[in-house]
Amino acid sequence: MSVALAFDIYGTLIDPHGVVGELQKHVGEQAPEFSRTWREKQLEYTWRRGLMGRYADFGVCTAQALDYADTLLATGLADDVKASLLQAYRVLPAFDDVAASMQALRATGCKLYPFSNGTEDMVDAVLSHAGIAEYFEPVISVDTLRTFKPDPRVYRYVVDVTGVEPDNCWLVSSNPFDVIGAVSAGINAAWLQRSAAAVFDPWEIRPTAVIGGLAELPALLNQTS
Ligand code: 2OP
Repeated sequence: MSVALAFDIYGTLIDPHGVVGELQKHVGEQAPEFSRTWREKQLEYTWRRGLMGRYADFGVCTAQALDYADTLLATGLADDVKASLLQAYRVLPAFDDVAASMQALRATGCKLYPFSNGTEDMVDAVLSHAGIAEYFEPVISVDTLRTFKPDPRVYRYVVDVTGVEPDNCWLVSSNPFDVIGAVSAGINAAWLQRSAAAVFDPWEIRPTAVIGGLAELPALLNQTS
């Protein structure tokens, strides 16, 4: 039986707060708050643009969220510093458990897909830089549909691209809104609870499974097949 796993990128395989070190050089101790604000606004912009039908790609959402964080926190970043931070976003680090877990999953015969709000170009760059591109099939990007997660069409698109039955299609994501979107659209979704403090939204829609690390995936798939 063929199983497809679609991995969310930012927050799941790649650490969006991996830019804190670079930020510290420019905003000092405000770096963690800056990084949080930047990430929260980036996602908010995707949701708002999706609802309004005013698509601009994830790179634009990321750049505009950076401008917002800079203005809100009065950090006065120069244009060349902003450009260097956006470049740093293209080379964010992978989480420690990614390479070994992807290798183990590949050995089970599953197909692994990067699935992101990020454009194909952004995702290719970050996976290559992290040295993990070799484990994956070509990127599935919402950019093809010009909308964002959690629009149900993006999860149905994953089913179309992977060519498996929805029952054999999994999203793996640390982002609760993404997990809820996938389950609501009819595919399985494992919530990766990367920290004990992470809270899942108290909605009527629950994850198909909860995992504490990517290394738990082979056992999970074994149980559910
Ligand atoms: C991603 O699509 C939502 O950041 C998340 O990679």
